[in-house]
Amino acid sequence: PVDGPLAGRHVLVTAGPTWEPIDPVRYIANRSSGKQGFAIAAAAAQAGARVTLVAGPVHLPTPPGVERVDVESALQMAEAVKRALPADIAVMVAAVADWRTASIAREKIKKRGSAPPALLLTENPDILATVASRPDRPPLLIGFAAETEHVVAHAKEKRKRKGADWIIANDVSGDVMGGDANAVHIVRGDDVISLPEMPKEDVARILVERMADAFAR
Ligand code: C5P
Repeated sequence: PVDGPLAGRHVLVTAGPTWEPIDPVRYIANRSSGKQGFAIAAAAAQAGARVTLVAGPVHLPTPPGVERVDVESALQMAEAVKRALPADIAVMVAAVADWRTASIAREKIKKRGSAPPALLLTENPDILATVASRPDRPPLLIGFAAETEHVVAHAKEKRKRKGADWIIANDVSGDVMGGDANAVHIVRGDDVISLPEMPKEDVARILVERMADAFAR
């Protein structure tokens, strides 16, 4: 579509988990269905934006009108995000694994006759913070934060530390993970908008409205 409040804008969305390989058959992952990120990509496309969706491994259909780039690991996601820039708005919804294995075994690690392997981990780059410090930083940069306690306080701290404009804090102490509903707080500095629990599609629609408003001003 060429019509709508986000017409002419490029919106970059990351969604899903990342998989960090241990050997050819095993990986470390985060818990994420990708549903919220895919819903945001769909809503942005419906609002007329050109949308690039960088997706970790999930089984979800590509929303209509969305250009999807599939990745597995955090390093691949970071590279795909860099390649998708510049964007007017970036929404980092992916649950990126904080660590990857320091090395990937070339052959399947054998169980028989040896002690359980010790995994040596190394930190993954923070994609959101990296994008925030780039010269082509999107003018509106939005992160997500899944928290189980002190949801808004942690989100405020994270917003500053990562250099995001908004942090969407979601309370995952209930059964949000993999579910169809979400309760979020839109944290923009000291200004916090708390939304009641609603379907992830509705959260996406409201967020996209707010994004369009921020650009219209
Ligand atoms: O610190 P935490 O992982 O809770 O922060 C969540 C936010 O940071 C999300 O927007 C997520 O996509 C982003 N993130 C990232 N790269 C990482 C870890 C998190 O972009 N390595």
